[in-house]
Amino acid sequence: MPRLSPTDPTVTIELDGDQLQAREGEPVACAVIANDQLIFSRSPKYHRPRGPFCMTGACAQCLMRVDGIPNVATCRVPVKAGMRLERQNAMPDVRVDLLRANDFVFRDWFNHHEFMAGWPIAEQVLLKIARQLSGLGVLPERAAADRQPAIIEEHDLVVVGGGAAGLSAARQLETRGVKHVLFERDLHVGGRLTSGAEAGQPAPWNAPARLGAEVVGLFADDGKPFLAVVEGERLHLVFYQRLLLAVGGHAMLPTFPNNDLPGVMAGRAVSMLIRRHGILPGRRVACVGEASEARSLAELVKGAGGEALAVGAEIVRAHGLRTVNAVTVTPGGKIDCDVIAACGPPSPAFELARCAGAEVVWNPAARCFVVQTDSRGQTANPAVFVAGEMRGPMSSAAAAEQGLAAADALARPLAEAT
Ligand code: FES
Repeated sequence: MPRLSPTDPTVTIELDGDQLQAREGEPVACAVIANDQLIFSRSPKYHRPRGPFCMTGACAQCLMRVDGIPNVATCRVPVKAGMRLERQNAMPDVRVDLLRANDFVFRDWFNHHEFMAGWPIAEQVLLKIARQLSGLGVLPERAAADRQPAIIEEHDLVVVGGGAAGLSAARQLETRGVKHVLFERDLHVGGRLTSGAEAGQPAPWNAPARLGAEVVGLFADDGKPFLAVVEGERLHLVFYQRLLLAVGGHAMLPTFPNNDLPGVMAGRAVSMLIRRHGILPGRRVACVGEASEARSLAELVKGAGGEALAVGAEIVRAHGLRTVNAVTVTPGGKIDCDVIAACGPPSPAFELARCAGAEVVWNPAARCFVVQTDSRGQTANPAVFVAGEMRGPMSSAAAAEQGLAAADALARPLAEAT
């Protein structure tokens, strides 16, 4: 696929022995896609081809062996000159994998836990064979470096997530002179303000943030809650008095036959590739699903020189042996395409909130689980607030409003705010 600005400086990386041109610092998955490669590995059980879906580290479809380390989420790792990439779980080759026969032999799937149950010797033999043939990659080439001790931090107020809601909250806290720290796992703030296709978005704004700082868990030590934050190579244990979570949601993969084919991508992944990384992942992009996002994405695709098809149609199935080559939609029937962009709101990322004691409830209107809060975003744990798409599908302008309201509540003295 052509890059939208082909004159950018490039470095060379290696994929299964082939030389690829890449931009230093861009996610490895972007470099691979820009070199016209959508198959990243094979699935460990059926050996069906795998390729990136979410581009946010949430789906595990982009795993590769990178510089001898297996199972690296390539959408989260920046390119460095000379990097060595290898595809996983294929025999002999990811394009022609003989173990793909599993997918045809066991057409109606099989339960590997019960396969040959009751035949002890056969089970032992099969287990040995299965261990050789399946699994996610093979062990690293070298032992991991010694771990550095964790860095302990204490803060009064921590904001997690630098998208519309988190940024708007951080800006308001800044304006009101409230000391806080904002963690953002990407190397830039903005979230969908800088990568989404949504029409009528507010212009992106900035706020001081700790970039590349990923919150990977929430725990308590002697009753004192803390966040586990990975920043570079170091683990930080971040104790807090009050917490505002604004981490958005996970791209949802709709259910339809062949939805795991490389070339099926989240609508937001496609818009991120175009807007943030200057890569059009295919010439013919079917923008299916939720109508308003599909229409905005179609405009983005056309602006990037691609063809937008089946805009807002309902998907019936994807076609293709190795990668997507067509889609059946209603209305419209079967249409040739290279990429299927599945548009729709993400599933709220409620995990951290739940760990912090917030309640998570089913929202029948939005058809997803959401974090329950009051109008300011305060959860069942009075020290924990939530804003944005963790509370359900909404525009980035509405998320920013929620961030503002939560910041105003958090700006009050602790006793008053809680
Ligand atoms: S985890 Fe990398 S594309 Fe989803």
